[in-house]
Amino acid sequence: MNQNPRDILITSALPYANGSIHIGHLVEYIQTDIWSRFQKMQGHNCYYVCADDAHGTPIMLRAQDEGITPEELIEGVSTEHQQDFQDFLIEFDNYHSTHSAENRELSTNIYGELKDAGYITTRDVEQAYDPEREMFLPDRFIKGTCPKCGAKDQYGDNCEACGATYSTADLKDAVSAVSGATPINKKSEHYFFKLPEFEKMLKKWTHGGHLQEEVYRKLDEWFESGLQEWDISRDAPYFGFKIPDTEDKYFYVWLDAPIGYMASFKNLCQKENIDFDKFWAKDSKAELYHFIGKDIIYFHALFWPAMLEGAGFRTPTAINAHGFLTVNGQKMSKSRGTFIKARSWLEHLNPEALRYYFAAKLGRGIEDLDLNLDDFRARVNSDLVGKVVNIASRCAGFITKRFDGKLSAECSEIELYSEFVNAGESIANHYEDRDFSRAVREIMALADMANRYIDEKKPWVLAKEDGKEQEVQDSCSVGINLFRVLITYLKPVLPEMAIASEAFLNAGELGWKELESPLTGTTINKFKPLMQRVTESDTEALLETSLEMSKESLT
Ligand code: 2FM
Ligand code: ZN
Repeated sequence: MNQNPRDILITSALPYANGSIHIGHLVEYIQTDIWSRFQKMQGHNCYYVCADDAHGTPIMLRAQDEGITPEELIEGVSTEHQQDFQDFLIEFDNYHSTHSAENRELSTNIYGELKDAGYITTRDVEQAYDPEREMFLPDRFIKGTCPKCGAKDQYGDNCEACGATYSTADLKDAVSAVSGATPINKKSEHYFFKLPEFEKMLKKWTHGGHLQEEVYRKLDEWFESGLQEWDISRDAPYFGFKIPDTEDKYFYVWLDAPIGYMASFKNLCQKENIDFDKFWAKDSKAELYHFIGKDIIYFHALFWPAMLEGAGFRTPTAINAHGFLTVNGQKMSKSRGTFIKARSWLEHLNPEALRYYFAAKLGRGIEDLDLNLDDFRARVNSDLVGKVVNIASRCAGFITKRFDGKLSAECSEIELYSEFVNAGESIANHYEDRDFSRAVREIMALADMANRYIDEKKPWVLAKEDGKEQEVQDSCSVGINLFRVLITYLKPVLPEMAIASEAFLNAGELGWKELESPLTGTTINKFKPLMQRVTESDTEALLETSLEMSKESLT
């Protein structure tokens, strides 16, 4: 379809290497993967990279708790993450780690460039310190009694009981969640990135067509309250990269995490001989897209472009933010069994069903998205099983049994077929715009048309009448051709169903361009069911498993 292949680099946020992938994460990976698969189908030179976000205090402490090294922990988690992604058909071109040689080198160099350009400063900061474990304590590792309502065992700077927010210093009877010791205040020297120096550049960039409207409006509020210098250092003990020319200072995990996008791509470039600079040099013509959740906009739309600019690299083409996932209308909850891990889903349900449901609900905006399990069942059963797959299953049997699998030599409904093919442009535009819900709506409207056509032709009636053989073959061939168009449009969302359909249709790979001519006179293979109905007992079993797993993790 496309005459000029574009160079496109796509990323999803890097998952922390101390927890499992859950369906909340999957909104983003599925969204990004659909977009990446779509771009690849259009013939673009597109790479989708990711990595585990391996540094930071929580990872260091979890490894200590488990009696293993952080390296051992992150290796195990990375294997688990990659298996989950693979089973959800998330097709990365590279999956790396922020704890890698490439990331160490890039982080060190970027920091060096920023320092040489005068964008780094130091000053003392006073922080809570655990005198027993001899470590500074991030807010979430301090617990105490809520200063407002008196609820005990509240972590960090907000109370789960009454919702109050306060400074951790105001917690009553504060103790270190790591050792139980009473924290003391202690000073140490910290390194800061001078973000305010980029205010002008960032104001321009955030309004330069790189962000969704809701996002740059939010950023405008942050500009109004003034940009602050960003603390990019943490004291030892810390699992991360040491800051050059220091003894015991490490880069804060959020400094080297986005650089991890570059590092993963660099690792791919080395493996596949790709020109790294073509994508990252200041004058790069390549496109760079980061898909993220709306909670990490600050890092991606302020710190990251400023760091890139300050270190002499190109800035992102766009940051695509999405909302959070709710399940049955509420925040995912361990006690309700709606904190659903990727692996639990795979034990009970088809990953493509979730891919389809998310696609059907994902738009361009940052509003939250609800997985209502009753609606999910109804939608998947009605759209995919009842409409799309049904077209093929209604027609294939006749072609196989009566015509030895052979489709008619000519398409008897070339106008109808053309209407389906012509819809491809608008559907492609919706994919391009990340308006997947609109793409899906248009595809399903076509599926309704295809089913109406078969209902009108009634091949099962014609098959019983004399002299209607040609009509049976023709109408069923049309049905199969319409199915081929639909499954082509759904291929970015349903890659496995598309592969099974390619085997059934027996006419090569499905692609927009290949639709120009219908299949005529070719032989299809025997039809095998492409998707099972989702039953209530499947979704109930999923909730039960999730509830069981949550109980285990709470004990
Ligand atoms: O919020 C998170 O889960 C982070 N691990 C995302 C990092 S994205 C990127 F900057 F590395
Ligand atoms: Zn409270």
